[in-house]
Amino acid sequence: MIFVTGGAGFIGSNFVLDWLAQSQEPVLNYDKLTYAGNLKNLAALDGDARHLFVRGDICDKDKVLALLRQHRPRAIVHFAAESHVDRSILGPGAFIETNVNGTFSLLEAARAYWGELDAEAKAAFRFLHVSTDEVYGTLGPEDPPFSETTAYAPNSPYSASKAASDHLVRAYHHTYGLPVLTTNCSNNYGPYHFPEKLIPLIISNALAGKPLPIYGDGQQVRDWLYVSDHCAAIRRVLDAGRPGETYNVGGWNEMANLDVVHILCDMLDRARPKAAGSYRDQITFVQDRPGHDRRYAIDARKLERELGWKPAETFESGIAKTVDWYLTHQAWVDDVRSGAYLTWMEQNYAHREGNA
Ligand code: NAD
Ligand code: DAU
Repeated sequence: MIFVTGGAGFIGSNFVLDWLAQSQEPVLNYDKLTYAGNLKNLAALDGDARHLFVRGDICDKDKVLALLRQHRPRAIVHFAAESHVDRSILGPGAFIETNVNGTFSLLEAARAYWGELDAEAKAAFRFLHVSTDEVYGTLGPEDPPFSETTAYAPNSPYSASKAASDHLVRAYHHTYGLPVLTTNCSNNYGPYHFPEKLIPLIISNALAGKPLPIYGDGQQVRDWLYVSDHCAAIRRVLDAGRPGETYNVGGWNEMANLDVVHILCDMLDRARPKAAGSYRDQITFVQDRPGHDRRYAIDARKLERELGWKPAETFESGIAKTVDWYLTHQAWVDDVRSGAYLTWMEQNYAHREGNA
């Protein structure tokens, strides 16, 4: 089996669903269920014996180690993190705790477990660390995209905490020989994306008749990748990546935020026309994010050259699927926004705490 951390979040739940759609290999899904973790994302796996969910914190090294010894996974795929830049500006502590200390604890548990494996299992074991392009900092309009050799220059508490975790992962390979892989990916979008992030926030605010907040001038550029392409890249790196290497993952799809918002408004105008006017009328320019990175862009040629991965979706196809998903899953959005899913999870899991 594989041991996945953070598999109830946006990318993690897409990864678990994709994995079990293509493989019989079971998944132990280890997640703390913070505000960002939502087991409703995994409702399609109810009753599926290949999916074992355990609620827990990656900072709890003893619990993680006991689970590793009990279930003997061949790999750890590490998604668990605090992931929202704006939250890291308002409260950086949780980011240091989970992203830095939590990754350290997880590495310690992995190192202890890995050290106990026989030679064959030891050679086959992998620790795949899911990271971000934000560790590279920000680009000017004419700069080449980030490659795997771009110097780290994180600018927010979130990206600094991810950079620290990347360095720890690297050090565990160089010092202890732990067979690690790191992926640095650009902005994902798609189903189950928590509506505090730009694309799902705009869709849900538009439909609710609320303002569509644009930070600063809206000309910040992000590279967008449909989430199932990121999941496929992770599977490919897990299969064939070289231990100790890092792989950049991106969509070759740079867009200014305001352009993304215009596209979303125009799509919603067609799919759910307003009684009068356009969703664009709801656009509101608001104060910029402090330290806001101006541009990210990813050079994903190493992953294509060495492992043959390329994104399957264009932005046009991916955003069409995404808007369609949100329009047909309004109840999921309502639950998340009302906090109802948190209440449900407390009720459902309070009495199951610690059960594997
Ligand atoms: P998310 O915030 O949607 O989900 C994070 C998950 O981790 C949640 O289920 C949460 O409950 C869990 N978690 C948080 N703290 C935990 C802890 N201490 N112990 C156990 N579980 C914990 O995040 P996401 O957007 O799915 O991102 C997943 C990973 O991918 C993160 O490491 C992030 O840095 C990275 N990443 C995200 C993007 C993106 O665009 N979203 C892009 C590149 C890389
Ligand atoms: O680049 C990868 C990163 O992408 C991941 O590592 C992060 O986990 C993920 O959250 C994402 O970070 P961003 O800060 O780029 O994503 P976010 O959706 O928060 O914002 C996208 C852009 O939109 C960014 O330039 C800020 C802007 N924005 C965001 C919000 C929430 C707005 O203009 N208005 C908003 O209300």
